[in-house]
Amino acid sequence: MGDSGWDPLFIVLLESGVPPSNAPAGMSDLNDDPGVQLLADGGGCPSPGLGTWKISGDIVPGVVHTAIALGYRHFDCACDYGNEEEVGAGLRRAMEDGLCTREDLWITSKLWNTYHEPEHVRAACERTLRDLGLDELDLYLVHFPIALAFVPFEQRYPPEWLFDPAAGEPTMKPIAVPYTETWGAMEELQRAGLVKRIGVCNLTVSLLREVLASCSIRPVAHQIELHPYLTQSRMLRYCQAEDIAVTAFSPLGADSYLSLGMAESDERLLADPVMAGVAAVHGRSVAQVALRWAVQRGTIPIPKSQSRSHLQENLAIHDFALSDEEMARIDALDRHRRFNDPGEFGEKAFNTFVPIYD
Ligand SMILES: NC(=O)c1ccc[n+]([C@@H]2O[C@H](COP(=O)([O-])OP(=O)(O)OC[C@H]3O[C@@H](n4cnc5c(N)ncnc54)[C@H](OP(=O)(O)O)[C@@H]3O)[C@@H](O)[C@H]2O)c1
Repeated sequence: MGDSGWDPLFIVLLESGVPPSNAPAGMSDLNDDPGVQLLADGGGCPSPGLGTWKISGDIVPGVVHTAIALGYRHFDCACDYGNEEEVGAGLRRAMEDGLCTREDLWITSKLWNTYHEPEHVRAACERTLRDLGLDELDLYLVHFPIALAFVPFEQRYPPEWLFDPAAGEPTMKPIAVPYTETWGAMEELQRAGLVKRIGVCNLTVSLLREVLASCSIRPVAHQIELHPYLTQSRMLRYCQAEDIAVTAFSPLGADSYLSLGMAESDERLLADPVMAGVAAVHGRSVAQVALRWAVQRGTIPIPKSQSRSHLQENLAIHDFALSDEEMARIDALDRHRRFNDPGEFGEKAFNTFVPIYD
């Protein structure tokens, strides 16, 4: 792979007219499929995946079923999204309809902040497995480097951020749990066969270096906010040097955050004139250019959509390519704009200052 992140193999595939696919492949096919990214442990992660945050429970079974019918094979889930049971219903229906088998799918989920104490990690994972209707996850991530006081399942699930939402002035209740102890419990899940591999989200390079220095099982992936307004080139370079796959969340930028009051309408990547210019040259949408840029940087984007046309559009990113010059022009849009920052939203929405970035 060159400096631009351009994968020369893809040129060969384009020129030979091999149709791209998002379906997982057998080991021998992995290197031939631009829709599958090979990870350090030899597993093949379908790319792009489908994000499931904020898809409400009533529609998510249908969205998941449609996505599988269109060709998605990778689903990004989390306890905190409050819809794992319904995502599981969609997966099950697609399998019953013969659209795919369990082996075709890549399912990621995430450990929530209230389960960081090692004694709670296994039960949290088992609850996610039960809700999704699976025996094993393909990837389990620690959602945030933030440990909050335990909330029992029967009290509230998912527990979300506030310790006692009914309190007069509700706040979070941070607790002191060394991240490496949580990581040790994640390793146990992999040893026990509940999850195929483990990974992290939202870390700084320093904390990731600590994990690598103390772990027995390395994180195979790091999921971070990545889009042209937050390119995180140092983090990406560090992860690539350490052979840690990078999953790009919120790959379409501000749009996910507008309704939450965490972004302004004049910050929309999808309305960026440079992006629009590149999109026009290729006869593609800005969203497709953003996702293609993500793939050509070697990352795995996981755009969320609940619209059939967007689902279709977001999958069609392996049959065109951005030039080195276009990649550089998009790289230069970096504004270091992080929309998903607990140091900001924690205080505004949950009355608690929990910064994780300096
Ligand atoms: N690890 C973490 O801490 C973390 C944090 C945030 C997100 N995530 C994961 O990353 C996933 C993706 O991030 P995200 O949901 O924040 O944002 P996103 O995928 O960047 O953007 C989603 C927004 O873009 C719209 N959209 C999707 N495709 C489009 C297209 N082709 N054209 C125009 N608009 C389009 C969606 O609307 P429609 O639904 O109407 O298409 C939605 O409003 C999440 O769902 C979640 O799984 C992880």
